[in-house]
Parts: sequence; C-alpha cells; structure tokens
Amino acid sequence: MAESPATQHIELDEDHAHLGTGPIPAGPYYQPEYFDLEREAIFRRTWLQIAHISELPEPGSFIVRPVEIARASILITRGRDGEIRAFHNVCTHRGTQLVSDDSGKRSLFSCPYHMWTFSDDGELRSAPDFERFYVDKSQCSLSKVAVDVCAGLVFINLDSSPEQSLREYLGPFAEELEQLPVARATTFSEYTYEIEGNWKLTYDNFQENYHLRFIHPRSGEAANGPQNPFGYPIRYGFHGPHRTQTIWSNPDARPKPFQTFGFMKGAEFAIKDGFGASAQGKEYYAIFPNLFILGSPMTPFSQSVVPISANRSRGIIRMYWIGEDDCASRRFAREYAMATARDIHSEDRAVIQAGQRGLESGALSHIHFQSQEILCRHLFQEVDKRVEAYRAERDAARAKA
Ligand code: FES
Ligand SMILES: [Fe+2]
Repeated sequence: MAESPATQHIELDEDHAHLGTGPIPAGPYYQPEYFDLEREAIFRRTWLQIAHISELPEPGSFIVRPVEIARASILITRGRDGEIRAFHNVCTHRGTQLVSDDSGKRSLFSCPYHMWTFSDDGELRSAPDFERFYVDKSQCSLSKVAVDVCAGLVFINLDSSPEQSLREYLGPFAEELEQLPVARATTFSEYTYEIEGNWKLTYDNFQENYHLRFIHPRSGEAANGPQNPFGYPIRYGFHGPHRTQTIWSNPDARPKPFQTFGFMKGAEFAIKDGFGASAQGKEYYAIFPNLFILGSPMTPFSQSVVPISANRSRGIIRMYWIGEDDCASRRFAREYAMATARDIHSEDRAVIQAGQRGLESGALSHIHFQSQEILCRHLFQEVDKRVEAYRAERDAARAKA
C-alpha cells in the first residue's frame, strides 16, 4: 500500500542542506550578553509587528506600545489626513514620556512637565514662554520611527533609515499575508501571558510538532495521529529570515460533540465572512524575528513573542474577526476559538519554563534539533548571523576609535 505523503518523513532537500545538522550552542538561549547583542543586531534594526490597523480606526486615533528590549515607548497616530505615523514617545524638551495612556483619540499631545504640545504629525505646536529658548520650533518635532502596514499588521522599525522597506523585507509573504483574514479584520480577541523563558525558546515551542503527542495527547489530535504520530508537516518553506510550514490535518481526529459544534460555528462564520477553506488554511507563517501567524480562516491567529530579558518574555495572542459579535452564536464561535487556543497553550507553559531553568544551569554547552525542528534551527541561524555581523561591526568600530 502506498504511504500517504503525510506519513513520510520530509527529507531535507538541497534547499535546506545549507542549514546543516550540527548541534546548536545553548548560551544564546539564556545568556544576558547574547540578549544585549540581539537588542542591537536585531530588535533595533528589524521590522517589528506592533499593532493591528483596527486599533487606529479613525483620524485622531492613537496607541502607545512599549518595546522593552529597546527600552522604547512608541506613539502611533492616525493623523487628520488618515496617515499612520510613529514617533518615540519622548518629549523633545527634556525627554519626559509624553503620553501615558495606552490608546485614545486625540490630535494634540501635551507633555505633563512643561506643557510642550505636539500635533499628531509630530510637530511642536506650542510651548509656554518659548521665546526664551535658543532653538526653533521646527527643530523640536518628535523623533520619527519608521512605520508601515501589511495585511492590516502595523510594523515599526527603530532604525531611522531601514535597509529595506517592509514589503522588501517580507518578500513574497507580503502578498500571501494580504490574502489572510487578518488583512480584512476589523477587531480581534487578545490574551497576553508572561513567561520565564527566553524569547527564542518560547517561540520555538510553536515551531515544531515533535512535542504534540507528549504535551498535547488530547488537544493536539488535529495535527498528529496514528497515520503521522509525530505530526510531520506537509511542507516547509523558507524566504530570507522568514519561514513557513503547512500543518498536516489528522483525518482520524474525533472531536467531542461540543468541539464539533464550536468548530462548525466557526466554519459557518468564516464562510459568511468570505473565508472558506482557502489554500492558506493550514499555513503557518513565522515572520522574523518574533511574529507568527496561522492562516486558518477558523482560527485566524497571531502571536508575538516579545523579549523582555534574557529569560523572560511576553506572548501576545490574538484572533482576528470581521465585524462585531452580532448574535449569540457568533459570540460563542469566537469565545470557543479563543478558549481552545488558551487551553492548548496552557499545556505548553510549564515545559517551556522547565527548559529555561535547565539551560540556565549551564549544564549543556549545546542543544540538538532534529529534522522536524528545522524551523527552530533556521531561527537560531538567522539570529546568530545578525549577532555575529553586529559583533564584527562593533569590534571594527572600536578598533578604529
Ligand atoms: S519635558 Fe516635556 S515639556 Fe518639559
Ligand atoms: Fe505546544
């Protein structure tokens, strides 16, 4: 009998061979020095997803978001002209954080300290007793941060002149993401969690199915089963620093009646909203460095794994919806999808933290990734490439000085 493709182990072809098979150093998953290098090499110069466009619904809407690893706070506004702009949330008089609210609607922002007031395009509008300063107002605009939107996802880049535009950075994935429900969403459900885990260790838990049968023996049934006991995905894809995999669906999954009901309701609304069983249905996008998106129309899911310190991260999990809850069954479908994600995820957390504790003991010089953990290997290599390039750049600059 011919084996179904899902039962075959995906052999890594020549496209993946350059990723190698060797052990991976353990230090980068817990050492504060490596985390400091990641700050400079990656998080201060890479496009980072920070919001969804539905959080800035109309002219005057604004949000403030922290980027802890860069010790930054970012103010994002939608101007009266409809334009999305981003600034450091720092008053240009003497550096006070300008806005303390997380979100709101306002087109003028006054600093609490001496009332310098900025408009939503970042210009200094008024400042008490300004004649006594030795600078022109035009020199006092808020410090700009690069911002762009793709598929409804708002990205910023802390590099004042990013090497690549957001579209260039995302490459062919930009167009694919534009086809997903997230691009048309008008609202979302969210939950966040903090975890004692390095951001890469936390993120890697969502990049491999190897753990499904041990950590999620019941809840992981949709993606592994007797035909494919280790939940091998159907396909892997790589583009630059980003990666995808197509998750296998278990035809033998036997959901309980209430699960079927929740799922059917979700499917019904996905079809109503124009998202049937699309080709991207099971596609998993890992957008470098710390975002991932599931293309499923029933669970249009994203997670950002936000680095806080070398051994602490925050996960922001969202499911995106079109329109408000307009009936009890739509409300149920959304709650059900969120509760399911939260349940599955609650099974992962203890083991991620146990991994962090083990690594921090310093007992291991290296860890090992098998072929199904190739997405984890690829993430490490993309991180390490940038860290090494930054280290060389920094050392060369020091040698010159
Ligand atoms: S620090 Fe903002 S007005 Fe003085
Ligand atoms: Fe898991």
